[in-house]
Amino acid sequence: MGSSWLILGVILLSSQVVRSQRVRVLPEVEAYPNESVNLRCEFTNPGSTKLTQVSWIFEATEGHRENIAVFHPTYGESFPKSAFKGRVQFTQASLEYPSIRIDSVRMSDAGRYTCEYATYPSGNEQGTTTLIMLAKPKNSATPVVVQAGSAKVVVARCEALQGKPAATVTWVTGAMGEYNSTSQAESDGTVTVKSEYRMAPASTDNGRDITCMISQRTQDRPQTFPMKLVVQYPPTVRIEGYDNNWYMGRTDASLTCHADANPKVVDFTWTTLSGNLPATAKVDQNRLLVQKVDESVNTTFICEAKNSLGSGKSQLTAAVIELTGDPSSAGVLVGAILGSLLALLLASALITVLVIRSRRQQPRYTGDSDQGTYGNKARIFGVKRASKNGTGDNNNGPIYTYRESEPGALVEKGNEFLHAPAGMPAPHHIPMTCELDEAGQRKFDTLNDSMEEEEEEEEQYDGFGGLPPSYHIPRHEDDYGVYIDDDMESQRDGSIISRTAIYV
Ligand SMILES: *[C@@H]1O[C@H](CO)[C@@H](O)[C@H](O)[C@H]1NC(C)=O
Ligand SMILES: *[C@@H]1O[C@H](CO)[C@@H](O)[C@H](O)[C@H]1NC(C)=O
Ligand SMILES: *[C@@H]1O[C@H](CO)[C@@H](O)[C@H](O)[C@H]1NC(C)=O
Repeated sequence: MGSSWLILGVILLSSQVVRSQRVRVLPEVEAYPNESVNLRCEFTNPGSTKLTQVSWIFEATEGHRENIAVFHPTYGESFPKSAFKGRVQFTQASLEYPSIRIDSVRMSDAGRYTCEYATYPSGNEQGTTTLIMLAKPKNSATPVVVQAGSAKVVVARCEALQGKPAATVTWVTGAMGEYNSTSQAESDGTVTVKSEYRMAPASTDNGRDITCMISQRTQDRPQTFPMKLVVQYPPTVRIEGYDNNWYMGRTDASLTCHADANPKVVDFTWTTLSGNLPATAKVDQNRLLVQKVDESVNTTFICEAKNSLGSGKSQLTAAVIELTGDPSSAGVLVGAILGSLLALLLASALITVLVIRSRRQQPRYTGDSDQGTYGNKARIFGVKRASKNGTGDNNNGPIYTYRESEPGALVEKGNEFLHAPAGMPAPHHIPMTCELDEAGQRKFDTLNDSMEEEEEEEEQYDGFGGLPPSYHIPRHEDDYGVYIDDDMESQRDGSIISRTAIYV
């Protein structure tokens, strides 16, 4: 109940205010320059109140009153001398509706307009309209070219010139900075707003987005100015293109000098730590082309880049190498392996040929017509097989040795020539077939012909690939498997051959 009484009281109070405010005007009117505006005024419910005269009073600023139009039912209209003279008139010549129209309004027309009645007996009654002059601001924004540094500087500006009412400027950016704005009243009544964005610009801020937004009453929506920051800095240089594979003779090696700079680099200079460039290195702007890799480019290269703000350097040490895992050198390696295999194959073939030939030939000791009998003095494995002079010439036939007690020593001992013991019909020289090439075979044949040249021949053999067949003169027959036993005769067949084959 209490609140209801309170509401009723408020309503009564309000109606009391309304009743006393019998001069009706619009509270606010907007206009652009050069337009015409209507300022309406009306005295409602005069009742017994006598209306004697009405006046329009202009206040540009509080307290500075200026009478611009007067109407008296008897004396008519009057327009005192003012800035409005000639532009102002009553729309209806009546005390009840003393509305006026102002043509070609100016920014300076903005202010309070009071419609004031002189009445009897209650005295003066009035209503006030505020004329708001509007002006679209001239908006603009621009980034400020700055140099990178730790001091805070203005990196972008934004302006709203001669707006009415004053514009509001805000900034949107990911940059780490702040802004301030100032408003300046122009002589025509408009306001110019200027805003500055300040920050300590880093080179990484170059190109960063920054947007200025201007809001103002005459604009449907804020006007935006997207921009990019412009931060200048001297070059930061790096050399690329070195692949750690500058092998001797390479022809397509190159280095590239990359410079991060603003403004752009105008000049690249290539040098080496020792001074000038090697003759084989050619410069093509930021590229260094090495026509052929040799020792002269086994050095430290320096690239220097310059722009208007300064210069930056970088260096790279190239290590020239002899051979690498490069395809061409891999080919060399493969070739070496293939060559070795081929040589081995050739040697095997030669050995096989020799072995087969020795198999076909029968060893024969002088004066011994029976092949199965080698005499009771010596029994030597493989004697018949390597003989080049054919069967029956066992004096000159080569003798393969076989050391039964030491199988691991077979190959080793196989390299040796064996002098038949004194009791043998003839001395024999035993070459190791695997060590013989054609030249060796020839020498071997010669050797067979002359035992007297033995020492000389040995020296000549030393010249074959560092692997000379050696002569060996056994001091004890038994050590070298020389058998003087007929029981071993059967072994000179298959088993003997296979043993010979094992040598190979
Ligand atoms: C108003 O009119 C005057 C003269 O007619 C002209 O010079 C001025 O530019 C106009 N102002 C605007 C805001 O249109
Ligand atoms: C921003 O503030 C600085 C001082 O703090 C002043 O010098 C500068 O004029 C101001 N700029 C604007 C647009 O208000
Ligand atoms: C390149 O120079 C280094 C020392 O600076 C040296 O050890 C290397 O052998 C050189 N390489 C060639 C291919 O000359």
